[in-house]
Amino acid sequence: MRSPQAKPTWLFGYGSLIYKVDFPYLRSEQASISGWQRRFWQGSHDHRGTPEQPGRVVTLVPAAKVVCKGVAYLVENDVFHHLDHREKNGYQRFEIDIKLSKEQQRVSGILYVADKHNTAYLGAASTRDIATQIARSHGPSGSNRDYLLQLAEALRDLDDLDPHVFELESLLR
Ligand code: BEZ
Repeated sequence: MRSPQAKPTWLFGYGSLIYKVDFPYLRSEQASISGWQRRFWQGSHDHRGTPEQPGRVVTLVPAAKVVCKGVAYLVENDVFHHLDHREKNGYQRFEIDIKLSKEQQRVSGILYVADKHNTAYLGAASTRDIATQIARSHGPSGSNRDYLLQLAEALRDLDDLDPHVFELESLLR
């Protein structure tokens, strides 16, 4: 029998977890969370940049009334060990209320957020400066440009017209 800790958990993906699904899951559903918005404010020196030229990847920042769309995955607990390693550069897990789009059902789940207290955090900059930094950065997981373009494509499929991401995409194209 399962122990209570081993119960499958919902994981909300709003960035690379939407399109880079390198973990097993039991179910996946389009989903949304309220009160958060994506920002390319987290530095990446291990995936999409280097310590000398860090890239920028998304995190979430609080934003009243904003709805952020993404994908929710129902996962077994060991998936978090894999993702804790994959996203080790400053991200922490938080509990969140998730709305599953299909049945409008609300579930409790987990997401990864990198806030200003982590050492890789870069914070706000002008859209043009962020685009320039993304255009120049490459890391072990590929170019920062590809990360942005893949995310924009995935958000289009979800109908999430995130102005921050699409403005950056148009500057990069
Ligand atoms: C996500 O796609 O939800 C995600 C983004 C950054 C770190 C971990 C997860």
